[in-house]
Amino acid sequence: MPEVRRWVASLKSKPSVFVEPFSGGGIIALTAASEGWAGKVHMSDLDEDVAAVWRTLFHGKTSDVQWLCEQIDEFEVTLENVREVIDGRARSTREKALRALIKNRMQRGGIMGPGAGLLKAGEAGKGLKSRWYPETLIKRINALQFIRGAVTFEKTDAFAIIKHYARDEDAVFFIDPPYTAGKKAAGLRLYRHCDVDHEHLFRAVASISGAAMLTYDDAPEVRELARHHGFRVTTVPMKNAHHAVIHELLVTKPCASGMGRTTGPSRVRPLLKTLAEANLLE
Ligand SMILES: C[S@@+](CC[C@H](N)C(=O)[O-])C[C@H]1O[C@@H](n2cnc3c(N)ncnc32)[C@H](O)[C@@H]1O
Repeated sequence: MPEVRRWVASLKSKPSVFVEPFSGGGIIALTAASEGWAGKVHMSDLDEDVAAVWRTLFHGKTSDVQWLCEQIDEFEVTLENVREVIDGRARSTREKALRALIKNRMQRGGIMGPGAGLLKAGEAGKGLKSRWYPETLIKRINALQFIRGAVTFEKTDAFAIIKHYARDEDAVFFIDPPYTAGKKAAGLRLYRHCDVDHEHLFRAVASISGAAMLTYDDAPEVRELARHHGFRVTTVPMKNAHHAVIHELLVTKPCASGMGRTTGPSRVRPLLKTLAEANLLE
């Protein structure tokens, strides 16, 4: 987050739009909306469950958001109830949103991809309940209503969104695709949609007028793609799910007219008090 914030602050002017095409939990895009980094924020993801959450929160009716909060509040955590929601046929968008949140909280490691197992002993020895904090979820959902007007979510292919803003030199892109380029291929297990053509993605990014930042596992294939397109590569230390420090790559493509500002945009008061408030799908 600090690296992305610094990068946005170094751009020549305030971006017209902040685009996160593989948004998932979208913590960066949501922070961008909260802190007014750009004129607007556009998120997209192909995953049906992820999409249902953002559609309900940002494009649903107030009554749908309220319904979701009530369901979370009243949900009794038993294996039977969890199974019923996860395996059941959610019809409406708000039902799918509930299913997504339950999956995210009850499946091991928050993994939403098919075949993820349910929590057993759990983080605090409480099994299924160990990551289920209904009050916190409701608080975060309500907090996110403050940035409703600033965020557009679309369930569409990342390449389509990138193409849509390709000619806008004031658009900036934060691109965090599933990590399937390197040998570890962690993205294969974590997401339903993980089949990304990374060569195509780098070509698409090379062709846009605006600035872009991509994040990846530190894999030789990624470094080679970045070198080929003349993008800048830096590494950042991150903690993985097992609290081990691993290094990730930040790959940046400057906008066509280069960088300008050295100081950041004037700090606006964020709409959300803390970043944790935005952390709904984690
Ligand atoms: C690494 S995750 C993004 C994580 C995100 N940055 C966050 O903060 O949670 C990648 C996401 O890309 C989505 N995805 C995969 N292929 C896609 C595509 N072609 N178009 C849009 N989204 C896609 C997956 O569903 C997944 O949610």
